Amino acid sequence: SLGGYDHYMLKEIFEQPESIRNAMRGRLDDQDATAVFGGLNLTPQQLRSVERIILTGCGTSWHSALVGEYLIEGLARIPVSVEYASELRYRNPPIENNTLVFGITQSGETADTLAALRETKRKGHRTLAICNVVASSIAQAADGGVYLHAGPEIGVASTKAYTSQCCVLAMLALYFGRTRHLSFEGGQRLIEELRRLPTAVQQALTCDEQVRDVAKKYCDATNVLYLGRQYNFPTALEGALKLKEISYIHAEGYPAAEMKHGPIALVDEKTPSVFIVPRGTTHDKVMANMEEVKARGGPIIAVASHDDPHIEAIADDVIRVPQVQEFLQPIVTVVPLQLLSYHIALLRGCDVDKPRNLAKSVTVE
Ligand code: M6R
Repeated sequence: SLGGYDHYMLKEIFEQPESIRNAMRGRLDDQDATAVFGGLNLTPQQLRSVERIILTGCGTSWHSALVGEYLIEGLARIPVSVEYASELRYRNPPIENNTLVFGITQSGETADTLAALRETKRKGHRTLAICNVVASSIAQAADGGVYLHAGPEIGVASTKAYTSQCCVLAMLALYFGRTRHLSFEGGQRLIEELRRLPTAVQQALTCDEQVRDVAKKYCDATNVLYLGRQYNFPTALEGALKLKEISYIHAEGYPAAEMKHGPIALVDEKTPSVFIVPRGTTHDKVMANMEEVKARGGPIIAVASHDDPHIEAIADDVIRVPQVQEFLQPIVTVVPLQLLSYHIALLRGCDVDKPRNLAKSVTVE
C-alpha cells in the first residue's frame, strides 16, 4: 500500500534510508574489516583469482554499473568494464579468463540482461546477479549473486533499487579490496562510512520542500542538462533519465567537462543546467564548468555540500546534501534529483508511477 504517500515513487524515495540499511544488514564484518556475502558461491581462491570484472545491465541498473566501475577500480584496483546488456549479448567481445560478470537488475527479468548473462555463462565465464526480486529468472540463471533486499519497487522509475545497487557495489568493492591491497584500517574506514550512509540519506531527504520550489521554477523547461564528474557523472545520467521518463522533458547527462565539446551550444536562458558539485577532488573543476554555463546565461541548479559557501555566488538555486566520502556520494546526491523529477512530473500532470510507453520490467528485446 501507499502508506500515506501520494505515489509509490515518493514512498520508495523516502524508504531509502531503510532500504540501504537492509542492503547492508549482516554484510559488514568488523572483525576482518570487510564485507560478507552469503550467495556468491565462489571459493576465496576463485574470488582472489578474478582479474577483470564486467558489469552489465540496462537503464538505471546500467547507471549503477557505472558507479560500480568507479568503486571497484578505485577501491579494489580491479579493471572493470561496463556494458549495456543489449549490446553485450550480440557484440561477442573477447573476454579473458578469470573475468567475473555481474548482471545488475532490479526485476531480475530484463530480457537483455538475462540474455547477456546466459551468453557469457555459456562461454564458461562465472556470472553473478545483483538483483532485487528473489528467485527471479536472472537470479536463477546466474552462478550466484547478491540480493538487494530493497523490498518491492512498484514505481516504474527505479529509485530505491538504484541506491541499493550502488550500496551493494560499494560493499563488493570493499570485499574485493580486502582480498587484495586494502589494509585492515582502510577497510575499517570504509565500513564506518557505510554505516553513516542511512543517516546521510535521511538528511538528504529533508531537501524535499525546497526541491518542490525549484521544481515550480523549472517545470516548463523543454531541455535540461545534468552535469557531474567522477563518482557524480553517473548521477548526472541518472538524474536526466529520471526527468525524461516521468516528466517527458528532454534531458541529457554529461561529464561536466564534456560540455565545451558540444552540449554547451544548447545553453541559453531557457535551458537549466543541474550541476552535481559536492565537495571532493573535482569540486573546483566543476565550479569552473559552472562559470562557463553562467557566462552564457544558463540558469544553474546546484546540488552541493552543506559547508560550501561559494556556491551561491554562481548558482541560481542550491540544494544542499550532507557531506559523505566521495565513494558514497552518488547514493546521496541522486536523492534530490529523484525528488526534482517527481515534483516536476506532478506539476506537469504526468502519471508518475506509470509513465507512458514504459513498463516496470522490459521482458522483450
Ligand atoms: O529491472 P531492471 O533493473 O533490469 O530494469 C532495467 C531498466 O529497464 C530500468 O532500470 C529502467 O531504466 C527504469 N525505468 C529506470 O527508472
